[in-house]
Amino acid sequence: MNHKIVLEGGNRLKGEVTISGAKNAALKLMAASLLLDGNTELHNIPELTDVVTMTQLLQTLGAEVEYNIKDKKILINASNINNIEAHYDFVSKMRASFVVLGALLGRFHEAKVALPGGCSIGERRIDLHIKGLESLGAQVRIEGGYVIAKTKKLTGAKIYLDRPSVGATENIMLAAILAEGSTIISNAAQEPEITDLANFLNAMGADVNGAGSSEIIINGVKLKNLKPVTYTTIPDRIEAGTYIAAVAATRGKAVIRNIFPNHLSAVTSKIFEMGGKVTVLDPFSIEVSCSGRLNSANIVTQPYPGFPTDLQSPFISALVIAEGISIITESIYENRFRQLGELRRMGANVQQESNKAIIKGVKQLTGAQVISSDLRAGASLIVAGLCANGASQISDIYHIDRGYEKIVEKFSELGANIKRIDSEENNLDVKIINTDENFY
Ligand code: EPZ
Repeated sequence: MNHKIVLEGGNRLKGEVTISGAKNAALKLMAASLLLDGNTELHNIPELTDVVTMTQLLQTLGAEVEYNIKDKKILINASNINNIEAHYDFVSKMRASFVVLGALLGRFHEAKVALPGGCSIGERRIDLHIKGLESLGAQVRIEGGYVIAKTKKLTGAKIYLDRPSVGATENIMLAAILAEGSTIISNAAQEPEITDLANFLNAMGADVNGAGSSEIIINGVKLKNLKPVTYTTIPDRIEAGTYIAAVAATRGKAVIRNIFPNHLSAVTSKIFEMGGKVTVLDPFSIEVSCSGRLNSANIVTQPYPGFPTDLQSPFISALVIAEGISIITESIYENRFRQLGELRRMGANVQQESNKAIIKGVKQLTGAQVISSDLRAGASLIVAGLCANGASQISDIYHIDRGYEKIVEKFSELGANIKRIDSEENNLDVKIINTDENFY
């Protein structure tokens, strides 16, 4: 059912929040399980609609999938794949599913996968995926909205990516695992989710080196070398960064648990620059706090290890109430500022000039009815609503449910006045529990 979120600002977030498994890692591990003639057991799988969509897609291909939500575990057996077509109904919902292309092509030498199409944040091309697979020896054509790839055999190759695309690196890596000989991907994406995928593949018996650097070397292995595998997904650095932004923006103090702090270096450095405090408590948790109004900051989104584009929107929500002028440059996507209009409805002073958002910090936002245009934009409206005076209502939150596990519950635990309501309801009464008198 489509729900809305209603929330009221005025509370400093306090306490602790435990971060879930990374969506953008878990989905790729699920797709990679198609390479294996046997069982894959994945742990720390977040409870998300995208995981359900990927489960359904794998099932249509003939995989047996058991999704144990309570234990955050998925069992996949891809021994009896009988269909190499990933239907539009699934791929159109979720771009991550496009990486079944590399896995199917690698194992079965053919695949037909719906084009993921454009999406509300930008053009999101696939030319590098196709060029990479062609370099390995596949014939690739686009017909009827599908990418159709075939080959007699795949042979390792040297592939230079014009830009470090996450998805292209993953698709090429998956196709190269069972290819004959070695593949070298230069200018590869270095995101932690790529390293996680490589670690998973190696645990399965593949031979992948250099993941996490700009050059990845894959030495092809035989199908019989791949063995059943049990693997735990890394924590979600983007979910963590969203809570970090929210705690700092509400001038709160909270512990963020189950993270790898080094995955968040660019993010925590920014918080520091903005006047917040970050203390590493142990290898898997940090404490974030902020006692006064945040300072402005300039941010340029970049491939990892730069500042992640996926956290641009939650950070803009923090900066619209910061002291001074901030300039945010979006260098990954053409159209990732769709939340700005909604933030203006809440009183933000922010203008877009080509790929820059120019923010003049205001002292206070006011609650409003707003619409979530995509996953991260939706989360950013929650961050803004938590800082606003009065109630906000966010609709189209199915975007948020694609990528944030139990977001309402987690923010409630941190002391936010927030709840989920039926989309038919128009209810701005969030029953204020505990508003901090000195908040505004
Ligand atoms: C992944 O998308 C993530 N999605 C995105 O997260 C994330 O924003 C992005 O990486 C960058 O970090 C998943 O992992 C499912 P790209 P992906 O290929 O793989 C251009 C979220 O909110 N490009 O690195 O699609 C493309 O147009 C999502 O969780 C080409 O030009 O990212 C885009 O501008 C949103 N040709 C840029 O590169 C290509 O062949 C980055 O794309 C491929 C990409």
